[in-house]
Formats: sequence, structure tokens, C-alpha cells
Amino acid sequence: MGEVQTIGVVGSGQMGGGIAQIAATSGIGAIAFDVHQTSLDKCRKLHEKLMGRAVEKERMTRDEADAALGRITYTANFDDLAGADWIIEAAVEDMKLKGELFAQLAGMFDKREDVVLATNTSSISITEIATAADKGAAGAGSRVVGMHFFNPVPVMKLVEVIRGLQTSDDVVNRTVALAERMGKVPLRANDRAGFVSNRVLMPMINEAFYAWMEGVAEPEAIDGIMKLGCAHPMGPLRLADFIGLDTCVHIMDVLAEGLNNERYRACPKLKQLVMAGRLGDKSGHGVFEYGK
Ligand code: CAA
Repeated sequence: MGEVQTIGVVGSGQMGGGIAQIAATSGIGAIAFDVHQTSLDKCRKLHEKLMGRAVEKERMTRDEADAALGRITYTANFDDLAGADWIIEAAVEDMKLKGELFAQLAGMFDKREDVVLATNTSSISITEIATAADKGAAGAGSRVVGMHFFNPVPVMKLVEVIRGLQTSDDVVNRTVALAERMGKVPLRANDRAGFVSNRVLMPMINEAFYAWMEGVAEPEAIDGIMKLGCAHPMGPLRLADFIGLDTCVHIMDVLAEGLNNERYRACPKLKQLVMAGRLGDKSGHGVFEYGK
């Protein structure tokens, strides 16, 4: 089993795009796959912009940036993923879609048992995704692992490595090694709702919405208190906008269901903003308003 040469990244949004970028800057080939050509075009432009900025800041030479960009191929053809020897899925957080995808990927790599099928999910059970892979090809579930990156991917050091019930020790160890090769710090967690990151982060964000709803303080003060008093780079409400308020509600629902505890229910204030279409940065308005 040789070193990973090419990572197939499923989904070219913010997370998938970031993963393809750091693969390329670590000297690994990346196949960025998305069903939407517009998303692929946007992803390519962002890569060019961010690499250009890295050259301006003298973090890499123009030649290094060109070589990294040359390592990424962008494709809307699913079959092109067969050219990869490791998969990281970063598509939308929808179990039905992921189930179909992992069954297909398991079939694609049925005869290549060294190919790991990783998912960047932040909330869906790795065990459930592995079970879907097993349906595509018996035994493929042992090659499914959580490889949870953080936004912005090029900046955040962590990869949360999550093992499902079926995940083999070898796959976990190889995932840790690959994350290190990509310049990240891998830390392991087991497959419980929210893993560690969202189990701890989301209730804090939710509590910030309660504090706002109950009039404890205005959003600017809540965020300022957490930034200046607790050294958080962003306040919890600004971070909620950054993550997406709909995603925050979704993750709270997963915690409430998965941990079977009402204390994880999403705050009504948070849900109300989502109902009003205020989703955060992506809609231009969440807790705070953002210029176009
Ligand atoms: N892509 C690539 N690089 C980016 C970037 C992006 N989207 N956004 C910022 N950066 C880079 C900037 O280019 C800059 O790099 P240089 O130092 O080379 O100039 C650096 O990050 C710092 O950026 P800024 O100076 O513009 O701004 P900042 O100092 O305020 O930092 C931040 C911005 C890194 C986003 C910082 O505010 C931060 O760390 N925020 C917290 C982010 C966080 O908690 N992320 C986790 C979210 S949870 C999650 O992802 C998982 C989940 O399951 C929900």
C-alpha cells in the first residue's frame, strides 16, 4: 500500500474546495467533483485567488502556486473519481444522499480495498454511512471513517478523526497519517452525535441565542464578552452566522435526537431567524447584516 497520490473530493463548496486546496498545497493530487458546474467554476476561481494571495504574501513562490493549482482537476463527471486512491466526501448534510453516494463509491472501489472512503460530515453517524457503504459492496464499511475539517479549511489546524463501529484500526491510523501529511493536527473521537467539536461548540452557540432572547445582552455585547473575556476569535453569534444558522439548527436537532435529551433543543430565537430566511453569511443576513 503506497502513499496516497490523489484524493477525490466530493463536493466543491466551502469545505470541499478547502480540502482540495490543502491536498494540492501538500503535494497531493486532488480531483474536485461536483454535480454543479457553477460550483466547480467558483471553486477554481477561489483557489486561484487564495494561491495568488499566498504568493503576494511570499508564503509560496509563483511556481509553487502554479504547481499546486496544476494538481487539482475539476470535474462534473462522477466516474472521474475512479482516478483517486482516497475519497473525502464533503457534500450536503443529507443522510439519504450520503447513503446513495457511499453505496456507489463502495461499488466503484470494490476491487481496490486500500481506498479509504472518508466523510467530512459534522453530524451524521459514521456507522450509518458505513452501513450504506456495506450495501454497495460487502465489507466496504470498514473503510469508512470521519475526517472532519473546520472552516476555513486552509486556516484551521484540526481534523477530528471519527471511527464508526465498522471502521478498521488500519483505516483510522492511515487517516491520522494523511491528516498530518496535509499539515493538520488529527484528534480522535468516537461516533456519538456531534462527536466532540459540535457536542461542545453548538450548545455554547445555542446558549448565546438564549442569552440574546432573554435580554441578558445585545448580540454585539454577547460576542464582545466572549471575544475579549474568553479569547474566542469570533463571538458565538458571529460564528453561528459564519457556520450558517440552518446548519446550527440541524446540528442541535442531531444532538437532541442522538443524545435523547431535550436540553439540546435549538433555541426558538435561532429557529425564528432561520424561518425568516436569515441564514447568516450565505444569505447576507443572520444575527448580523453583511454587505454584498
Ligand atoms: N479561506 C482561506 N483563508 C482564509 C479564509 C478563508 N475562507 N478566511 C480567512 N483566511 C485567512 C486570511 O487570508 C488570513 O491569512 P493571512 O494571515 O495569511 O493573511 C487569516 O486567515 C486571518 O484572516 P483575517 O485576518 O481576514 O481575519 P481574522 O484574523 O479575523 O481570522 C478567522 C478569520 C480565521 C475566520 C478567525 O476569525 C477564526 O478563527 N474564527 C473562528 C473560526 C471557527 O471557529 N471555525 C470553526 C467553525 S465550526 C466548523 O467548521 C465545523 C462544524 O462542524 C460546524
